[in-house]
Amino acid sequence: MKIVAIMGSPRRNGNSEILLHTFLSARPQGSSLTVLVPSEMHLEFCRGCRFCERMGSCVIRDDMETVYPLLCEADRVVVSAPVFFYGFPAHLKALIDRTQPLWARRYLLREVMPPKKGFLLAVGATRGQRLFEGVVLTTRYFFDAFGCTYENGLFFRGFDVKGSIADCSQCLRDVEEAGKSFLCG
Ligand SMILES: Cc1cc2nc3c(=O)[nH]c(=O)nc-3n(C[C@H](O)[C@H](O)[C@H](O)COP(=O)(O)O)c2cc1C
Repeated sequence: MKIVAIMGSPRRNGNSEILLHTFLSARPQGSSLTVLVPSEMHLEFCRGCRFCERMGSCVIRDDMETVYPLLCEADRVVVSAPVFFYGFPAHLKALIDRTQPLWARRYLLREVMPPKKGFLLAVGATRGQRLFEGVVLTTRYFFDAFGCTYENGLFFRGFDVKGSIADCSQCLRDVEEAGKSFLCG
C-alpha cells in the first residue's frame, strides 16, 4: 500500500505534525510512506494560465513534478493541517492549487484515475461550530481532482500552543484508532 501524507503546517513539531505521526503510527508493515511538507518544498503559485487544461501538465518546473505521480499512484492520502483564517496555510493551498493539471486530466482530458481514499486531520485554536467547514470543502475537491474519495476527518478545537495536542491523550487515542482503520482497512 502506498501512503502519501501531507503535513500542512509551516510550524514543525506542532499540533498538525503530532496528529499526523500518531495517525500514521499504525500503518501496515510493508506499506510505503511519503511525507510531504509543503512549507519546505519549492512550490510556486498556480498562474491560472490554463496550459494544463489543454496539455494535462503544468508549465512550471518545481517540486510539483514529484508530487503529481505520488498523488496519482497513492492508495491512501492523509492531510494534517491547522486552520489559518478558516482555510489552509498558504503553502498547502499552493500545492492544492497546483493539482489543477490532475483535475484537467481527469475532467477535461477524460483520464481514468485509479481510486484512492483520503482522510483529513485538522486543528484550530478557537471553538466555533463552523471552524472546519472551509478546510473540509477544500479537501473534498482537492482529493476529487485525482480520484480520491474523502472518507472522513477528525477535528480538534481549542489547541493553539505548539504541541499542546499531545496533552490530550483521548485525542491521540482517537487519531491512532482512526489511522488504524483507515490505513489497515
Ligand atoms: C496565521 C494564522 C491564522 C490562524 N487562523 C485561525 C483561525 O482562523 N481559526 C482558529 O481557530 N485558529 C487559527 N489559528 C490558530 C492555529 O490553527 C492553531 O494554533 C493550530 O493549533 C496550529 O497548528 P500547528 O501547531 O500544526 O501549526 C491561526 C494561526 C495562525 C498562525
